[in-house]
Amino acid sequence: MGKIRILILGGTGEARALAEALADNDRYDVLYSLAGRTEIPSDQPVPVRIGGFGGAEGLAAFLRDGRFDLMIDATHPFASRISRNACEASAAVGIPTFALRRPEWLAEPGDRWTRVTTITEAIETLGPSPRRVFLAIGRQEAHRAEVAPQHFYLVRSIDPVEPPLDLPEVHMVLDRGPYDVESEASLFRAYRIDALVTKNSGGSATYAKIQAARRLGIEVIMVARAPAAAMQTVTTIEAMLVAIDHLFPPAMNRGV
Ligand SMILES: NC(=O)c1ccc[n+]([C@@H]2O[C@H](COP(=O)([O-])OP(=O)(O)OC[C@H]3O[C@@H](n4cnc5c(N)ncnc54)[C@H](OP(=O)(O)O)[C@@H]3O)[C@@H](O)[C@H]2O)c1
Repeated sequence: MGKIRILILGGTGEARALAEALADNDRYDVLYSLAGRTEIPSDQPVPVRIGGFGGAEGLAAFLRDGRFDLMIDATHPFASRISRNACEASAAVGIPTFALRRPEWLAEPGDRWTRVTTITEAIETLGPSPRRVFLAIGRQEAHRAEVAPQHFYLVRSIDPVEPPLDLPEVHMVLDRGPYDVESEASLFRAYRIDALVTKNSGGSATYAKIQAARRLGIEVIMVARAPAAAMQTVTTIEAMLVAIDHLFPPAMNRGV
């Protein structure tokens, strides 16, 4: 009997944790896929491939050539293009795709959220008067702040923003988290931050900044998620393992 071949589209902590959970099960042969945007840690639990597939068609060809039985989209909730491609490719090849998505953050008492739908709208929402802004949106779209040079920006990302931001008042912090509420509150205080711009990524790894803003009464400009691609979706690794077991009951491994 052959092993069940699973392609994980990754780039998140949850994707890595799922790969770890599947690595020890010898029924599964798992390949972990990364876009290659950040430096890749060397200690991956399963084999890794890096780089785009060449759109939905490229991904479909990759699935066919690799004789995959299941694809798991465990990419970031704001990585919508790869998720659309995953939907299209799995339909074309006729294999199932599950999505692993952390739930959105929900506003709690004490939160001062202004909800927007794009980064551009978030920057406009800061208004004409100079403000001190914590821009915690990653590096890919940080340059959108260049239309509003009147503000001070504290920009945090895993890798440096390239090319450097063309802004008069900007301070870069390179860090990949996870963070805690005390250190986030100190950061807000040290830079006298009065607005936080963030995506509604969900999950615990980066939630401390939301808690720090709540504690200090700071406005959060919250960028909402785009509608998710239509796939069977679960929110935890445990639920994903159950869904996989359900699809491939332990007594069944595919024939070769
Ligand atoms: N967007 C965010 O805020 C964010 C935050 C944290 C982590 N990430 C991670 O960073 C990666 C890129 O995010 P993005 O927002 O640039 O994605 P995206 O806009 O949805 O995807 C752009 C292109 O990158 C390639 N790609 C994306 N994820 C891939 C993967 N896991 N394996 C192979 N190719 C992939 C695909 O290229 P082809 O069309 O050539 O296949 C895709 O069309 C994702 O893996 C995501 O999980 C994103």
